[in-house]
Amino acid sequence: MNHDAAMAVVDGTEILWAAHAERYSKVKNDHYLNWEIVNEAKTYGPFDKVVYYEKPLLKKTRQLYAGQYGPASSYTEMPQWHLDNFKIKIDEYVNHHNSHAAAGYFTSPFREATVLTVDAIGEWDTVSISTANKIWIQRKETIQYPHSLGILYSAFTQRCGLKPAEEEYILMGMAAYGEPKYKDDIYEDFVIQSPFKLKKNLHRGLGDWHPEADVMDIAASIQSVLVECLADLWHRASKYGSRNLVYAGGVALNCAANTALANMGLFDNIWIIPNPGDAGSSLGCIAASQKKHLNWNNPFLGYNIEGEYPVDKIIKELTENKIVGVANGRAEFGPRALGNRSLLADPRGLEIKDMVNQIKRRQKFRPFAPAILEEDVNEYFNLPTGVKNTPYMQYTAAYTHGKDCPAIIHYDNTSRVQTVSKSDNEGFYELLKAWKKKTGCPMLLNTSLNIKGQPMVNDAKDGKAFTSKYGVKVL
Ligand SMILES: [Fe+2]
Repeated sequence: MNHDAAMAVVDGTEILWAAHAERYSKVKNDHYLNWEIVNEAKTYGPFDKVVYYEKPLLKKTRQLYAGQYGPASSYTEMPQWHLDNFKIKIDEYVNHHNSHAAAGYFTSPFREATVLTVDAIGEWDTVSISTANKIWIQRKETIQYPHSLGILYSAFTQRCGLKPAEEEYILMGMAAYGEPKYKDDIYEDFVIQSPFKLKKNLHRGLGDWHPEADVMDIAASIQSVLVECLADLWHRASKYGSRNLVYAGGVALNCAANTALANMGLFDNIWIIPNPGDAGSSLGCIAASQKKHLNWNNPFLGYNIEGEYPVDKIIKELTENKIVGVANGRAEFGPRALGNRSLLADPRGLEIKDMVNQIKRRQKFRPFAPAILEEDVNEYFNLPTGVKNTPYMQYTAAYTHGKDCPAIIHYDNTSRVQTVSKSDNEGFYELLKAWKKKTGCPMLLNTSLNIKGQPMVNDAKDGKAFTSKYGVKVL
């Protein structure tokens, strides 16, 4: 419970299942578990050990310090009190940033690495740098509340009229439209870059800072400050000597910053788990407890809709109607639809963006993302330095193929690309291959399959609800 409630079940080194509570309750970013997700987890049970991703008493000391006396003194805020409802007993509590670090390192392909975690806040920690070797993750540096890059970015998210701790990704998209005119003012009023510190506690927001400003310029300014402050952390992480970086925590979802990280060339290899935020820590706290590398194959770990990936039917629907939903196989564990709970569309032509936007009803300025055959990505995009593929949509890449696919190109001529190989998702790969064979185009527009205001489709019933709402087939 907290932020994005999630559960994971692991048996030895095998990840059996992992899912988000919101997909079952239909409450976006649901803070709490519900019987549906708990019952599904229990089909893999009984549980030998239950691990929680944070130390609740330590968190209460920070809440007291921050003057949040309500949550600090309330026993209903204790995770065990909540889990009593489901007859689940927590056996171990893991430090929050250790959960993030373990989620990253123990799913990574590395045997040694430097591990950097950056989020809004754990109990007290907001940044950690560790060295990891075999089964040991050793903390080297920590930054603590109130000095938090996540809180800083969330405060600006709120300043720009968005929902903090949820809509940071929209702020990131807005940054491309503005000029970083207020960068100096942000440093002047709030931020010391190196070593990172906040001059003010921003937990309760900024108020109406620069009320005259265009929010796009504010977005560009804070994105620029974020990247500069992160760059300092990336440099510090690189001084521990490893060429492998594991990067985790909610801030690692900022794909524009991730591109800057790769382009700095400080590391040969970077691993970001597709669910680096708090939901991913449901898996991370188990890994931190077990101290064992997990057998990571792919993020398709959630609810299963059985059946073959319907390649031919999708192609037919795309050819006739340009848009189709797909709800097939196991749901993605992470915030992005990667082919199993996706709304897909023909990316070519001018009208497609408006057609998809009619369904998504989101801000006009926001672009859609492409999924592309991994073997064709270099012909269409310039990936960041050292990045060979991006199967989890974690980087932005410059589009280099003219003007034929405006729906998937952002204002700054970049796209948040997903590369697809056979080993990532065989069904989706075969679909893209069949699409390329038919049209010559190796990519599809890929956005999450959800009814406006709701989380992603989970089961077949949700798929039917989507069809009856929007008249778009879900296969
Ligand atoms: Fe976190």
